[in-house]
Amino acid sequence: MSTINTGDIADGTIIDGVHYHQFDIVIVGAGGAGMRAAIEAGPHAKTAVISKLYPTRSHTGAAQGGMAAALANVEDDNWEWHTYDTVKGGDYLVDQDAAEILAKEAIDAVVDLENMGLPFNRTEDGKIDQRRFGGHTREHGKAPVRRACYAADRTGHMILQTLYQNCVRLGINFFNEFYVLDLIMTEVDGVEEPAGVVAYELSTGDLHVFQSKATIFATGGFGKIFKTTSNAHTLTGDGVGIIWRKGLPLEDMEFFQFHPTGLAGLGILLSEAARGEGAILRNAEGERFMERYTPTLKDLAPRDIVARSMATEIREGRGAGPDKDYLFLDITHLEPAVIDEKLPDITEFARTYLGVEPYTEPVPVLPTAHYAMGGIPTNVQAEVLRNNTDVVKGLYAAGECACVSVHGSNRLGTNSLLDINVFGKRAGKAAIEYVKTAEFVPLPENPAGGVKNILDMVRAGDGTERIAAIRKELQVSMDRNAQIFRTDESLEEVTNLIQSLRGRYRNIQLHDKGKRFNTDLLEAVELGFLLDLAEVLVFSARSRKESRGGHMREDYPDRDDENFLVHTMAYLTGDPESEEAGDHIRLDWKPVVITNYPPMERKY
Ligand code: FUM
Repeated sequence: MSTINTGDIADGTIIDGVHYHQFDIVIVGAGGAGMRAAIEAGPHAKTAVISKLYPTRSHTGAAQGGMAAALANVEDDNWEWHTYDTVKGGDYLVDQDAAEILAKEAIDAVVDLENMGLPFNRTEDGKIDQRRFGGHTREHGKAPVRRACYAADRTGHMILQTLYQNCVRLGINFFNEFYVLDLIMTEVDGVEEPAGVVAYELSTGDLHVFQSKATIFATGGFGKIFKTTSNAHTLTGDGVGIIWRKGLPLEDMEFFQFHPTGLAGLGILLSEAARGEGAILRNAEGERFMERYTPTLKDLAPRDIVARSMATEIREGRGAGPDKDYLFLDITHLEPAVIDEKLPDITEFARTYLGVEPYTEPVPVLPTAHYAMGGIPTNVQAEVLRNNTDVVKGLYAAGECACVSVHGSNRLGTNSLLDINVFGKRAGKAAIEYVKTAEFVPLPENPAGGVKNILDMVRAGDGTERIAAIRKELQVSMDRNAQIFRTDESLEEVTNLIQSLRGRYRNIQLHDKGKRFNTDLLEAVELGFLLDLAEVLVFSARSRKESRGGHMREDYPDRDDENFLVHTMAYLTGDPESEEAGDHIRLDWKPVVITNYPPMERKY
């Protein structure tokens, strides 16, 4: 293959209308993981952060309740209990070496943020205050423990602002509203190696090639495959989709978390911090139903269990409202002063969106698609895996787009703000070590050609199908067929729908043919990623014939450690456009790393 001579690529070079840039490290995504990596890497190497959003609009800002770390500031605690809770909460699919790192490095991760200026809530004696969260316990499950460090109910917002301000202080290069659409791979000695990325500049419609020695993906999740979700409109899984289209594996895609308390009818997150502060879930009869399901932890059991219990209450006719289709989050017994100090945002959401006054009325809630446990497989250095054992040199992933796997089949609340800080930092450090000796991988001829073709095809779209209509059908079907309860039949239904939506996607109509801020074009491209990721989720879910964590198969209701104590590794092997549903995906399995905690029955 002919290649562009890298010596010709200086910042700002334009060849055939495409802008070229060269950085030691390119970070895709300006959420918590991306910016934490940038803070580590920026002072030591020429680093760029590329984001399809303005950084402080990243979805980390929507995380509310806290960041776990066994600081033991208000109650006895230690990182080993935190590791145990993470493993058990993840229904034993967690890689335990990774969970140990997460829990151990949590302490420094919080101290780092404190030193960067994050305004945590404080105890009376000035320490960082801590609150309870689901599944976090003392002494291996005896009782809830106060482990979540927090800033009211806007902890993610504070983390995002703090990291961004520190990136600005360090002079990190940001390319805001640049949409990365491809990872450039060049064959070197028979092996495909990453050479950089291609991005579409939203304000101009121009294409940019960023050549890099190391590339870090920190692109977040893909909750928009579901209709009822806490995820922002932008959470379309582009980074995970790019990796998928390169033929690299995706791990544990069947495991998606449904957060128990989304605002009914809307899915907007109402933080678990409310229950950490004493809120109670009730059914239409006013009963505190979680006492029946998990007598020890009650409302503070892990999310998979609470969400499933809620869905069961509704199925069995104990839901509220004219259609008996929601439940209540009751905080009326808390002092208004406590609510105002600790839960100001979510109570305002209830007032604004549902017209409910949380001081005096229970708030209607329903589980909402919240977090992808699966994603781009990495080792604990955040290096992306090519298969079960080998890494892709110079390629890293961190945060929700990655699967380390510290969350297994069900993430504990507050472990994601922790994950982005611990593994974002690790990704930055590993990339720095790598670029010390690595050379630029040569760019292939016409590195932006593939992206140009996709955009030309989408732009030419003169068919009859509306993008929003296809997206909505996908989301409605995913809610109905691949949400809290799944069966082979329901998963088959959505598989077939995805195949037919692909056909309709080829016949889309693009109204805006322009180049500047063409959000119509952007949404069309994003829809392609949503279809890909929904399909691989459903394919992996059909293959896992057991129930574990967030994956409940009614036709296989038990956990089956003998056959399924393994991660799924899905590979794209053919062209999804030209084959029958499912035929272009191959599934492999990867062992789970077990150190100190052999699988046990989960009791709470
Ligand atoms: O409920 C919450 O505040 C969400 C936290 C999380 O997902 O970690």
